[in-house]
Amino acid sequence: MPLDLYATIRDQRLAALREEFFPRLPLAAGRPLTLELGCGHGHYLAAYAAAHPEEFCVGLDLLADRIERAGRKAARARLDNLAFVQAEASLFLGALAAYPASVSPPPPPPARLRRVFVLFSDPWPKRRHWKHRVFQPALLDTLAPLAEPGASLHFRTDHPEYFTYARAVAAEHEKWRLAEPGEPGGAWPFEHVSVFEERALAGAPQSFTALRR
Ligand SMILES: C[S@@+](CC[C@H](N)C(=O)[O-])C[C@H]1O[C@@H](n2cnc3c(N)ncnc32)[C@H](O)[C@@H]1O
Repeated sequence: MPLDLYATIRDQRLAALREEFFPRLPLAAGRPLTLELGCGHGHYLAAYAAAHPEEFCVGLDLLADRIERAGRKAARARLDNLAFVQAEASLFLGALAAYPASVSPPPPPPARLRRVFVLFSDPWPKRRHWKHRVFQPALLDTLAPLAEPGASLHFRTDHPEYFTYARAVAAEHEKWRLAEPGEPGGAWPFEHVSVFEERALAGAPQSFTALRR
């Protein structure tokens, strides 16, 4: 794709995101943000948000039909701390980093990130496709300035090689560290089996938690 066309599409998507999502952010005021990147149909995050009314939860997914289903779930649950947004994860995080400077008049800044979930994210097994993985060094770079000290990043997969890769990315990052076994804040915060987790249970899902230094 020519670079200028790519830039135009990216700008249009950013503008749509600002219009659709930013007006909802003041709902978060005073509450820490929790994100699920690649939330699918939103099963996990809807259950998590119901159990954590003190956090404002946002689920992102690339696919419109998944976000529509997740949105219907949120509407039925009548939760005021849950939003689902169709967006590519790095684009959304870039837009979040630019908020509130990009909004006029400037609203109060949203709370900082408390938790981020990356659950059963597509493993992209071939090395030449690793650049498409959601969990990679660039993601941790982008999340670091948005996250409050001690914020947690929770990763779970049934793909052993993606687990080893992601764990090494977290262990080697200067702004994040792997939680020690038994460390407060490092425990898996909430269990609820999503459709993708149910499919993955035939394998052996593995998890880790990384903490913002
Ligand atoms: C295998 S599903 C897992 C869904 C959910 N986390 C669960 O456990 O049920 C992975 C999801 O990530 C989404 N996805 C993949 N890359 C993404 C990206 N860069 N930004 C946002 N969503 C993405 C896909 O559309 C898909 O719905």
